[in-house]
Amino acid sequence: MQTRHFLTLLDLSPAELEALVSRAIELKALHKAGTLYEPFKHRVLAMVFDKSSTRTRVSFETGMAQLGGHAIFLSPRDTQLGRGEPIEDSARVLSRMADVIMIRTYKHKKIERFAEYSDVPVINALTDSYHPCQLLADMQTYYEHRGSIQGKTVTWIGDGNNMCHSYINAARQYDFRLNIACPDGYLPDSDILQAAGDHAVLMDSAMEAAAGADLVVTDVWASMGQEEEQARRVLAFADYQVNASIMAVAAGDALFMHCLPAHRGEEVTADVIDGAQSVVWDEAENRLHAQKAMLELLLGKPA
Ligand code: CP
Ligand code: NVA
Repeated sequence: MQTRHFLTLLDLSPAELEALVSRAIELKALHKAGTLYEPFKHRVLAMVFDKSSTRTRVSFETGMAQLGGHAIFLSPRDTQLGRGEPIEDSARVLSRMADVIMIRTYKHKKIERFAEYSDVPVINALTDSYHPCQLLADMQTYYEHRGSIQGKTVTWIGDGNNMCHSYINAARQYDFRLNIACPDGYLPDSDILQAAGDHAVLMDSAMEAAAGADLVVTDVWASMGQEEEQARRVLAFADYQVNASIMAVAAGDALFMHCLPAHRGEEVTADVIDGAQSVVWDEAENRLHAQKAMLELLLGKPA
């Protein structure tokens, strides 16, 4: 049987993605009730991080521990991958020892190549192009607060980055409409956008994109690896801040999400991210539950 990987949301069917959200909610309830559920005793997750992380590392490591297994943190500073060992070799070696591998890296091609040579499932924990694990948590969070997201309007304001690309894929898979407002020069990849058809639409302004939205989402203006562009980006993104005026034109019960870390006063004002419509702490917590559901799907739920 071919090994399944989770590199983008398109690796799962809409039905599987829907089921995954339900399972994440079940696993969350089990955990909150204090019920031990340890199907993955002696199973090991290898976690390769080429970029920094707080939420991703802690949620995967905690999740694997709660499922009865173990996680190993690998950074480029202290592995041979960081000293130039070919990824094809690293993939073959790690997959002979670990049961599942999670990678956060720069180029998406690198994770694709790694997966090609891995005998065990590979999970994308963020590349320059996508952040699909975050979308699982976001979809779970929307579902918990408002029910199904199908047919709803979601607004993306800011950079056409990895999170934006994953929102475009989510719009296809979870069947909602995504209004996108990004400054010129920072638009999402045109192939990813085009493949989504009517599900994702570029709008002329943040205000226009937010009108009537059920969910408003943003992310940092400069992602990891773009630190040197910060000053230029602050100027380019000045009209792409999520603030009270933006939330005022969205639906009255609109939610606000941000994958975090956030920069208050840049992509979002403090009154919005710390306000009543923001669900960012639930969103962050749900990384844990959604990824446990993902690990279960890839490792196989015990009979
Ligand atoms: N949202 C997210 O992936 O956070 P970290 O960079 O802290 O993992
Ligand atoms: N777009 C951000 C997301 C961080 C979780 C980045 O890539 O740095």
